[in-house]
Amino acid sequence: MNGDLVMARDPEAAQALRTLHDDLRECTGCSLCRSRTHVVFGVGDPNADLMFVGEGPGFNEDRQGEPFVGQAGRLLTELLGAIGLARRDVYIANVVKCRPPENRDPAPDEIEACSPHLMRQIAIVRPRVICTLGRFATKLLADTESSMSVIHGKAKPREVAGVQTIIFPVFHPAAALYTPANRQVLEEDFAKLRRLLDRGIEVPASSEAGERAAADPSVPAMPEESSNRSRVVPARTEQLPLW
Ligand code: URA
Repeated sequence: MNGDLVMARDPEAAQALRTLHDDLRECTGCSLCRSRTHVVFGVGDPNADLMFVGEGPGFNEDRQGEPFVGQAGRLLTELLGAIGLARRDVYIANVVKCRPPENRDPAPDEIEACSPHLMRQIAIVRPRVICTLGRFATKLLADTESSMSVIHGKAKPREVAGVQTIIFPVFHPAAALYTPANRQVLEEDFAKLRRLLDRGIEVPASSEAGERAAADPSVPAMPEESSNRSRVVPARTEQLPLW
């Protein structure tokens, strides 16, 4: 294994997440505490490059205390598998950590009460990319009113909880359970997510940043690159908002 990658991992992240989880087990920060079975904190690699943020626990998640373990979760696991990832490779959390009754939308006061915990998780995991699942996570983390149908599958560099990351919205997997067309869109967006993880954001060579990248010998060119094609800027170097 690459020694740099091992050294880059933060050995304290797992403990920091455990401590935060323990602090939240009896949370009474909003009225959702009255009907929940479990606080659904989050699971996965404490040092993940890729973090998923959903809306809030459903019936199965509330019972088991783990995010995305129901039907939508199975689809998420399949979508991950299709791009060569397993649940243990990523970190998965939600905007609200307790199930809204009858799976209703989380209310603004519930999101306000719970989102600081999500921000702490992001500050600990420090993901390179956050894939927001659906409109609630996207609105919160990208601070946008744009419609999901306009911004899904597009990347936006952004600082969240003190972490320079890239927000990548996709439709919520639940939207694809009974609508094959939505599933296809999700599959296409996950293929783009794979490219984003592998290559970073593609900056058009005609743009100012693209020209600077093209002049920078440390920025690798795509194998098929010709002089009028786009250059690829690794995710940790210069970024351009793409929406
Ligand atoms: N939907 C979500 O948004 N989160 C879950 O954990 C499960 C379903």
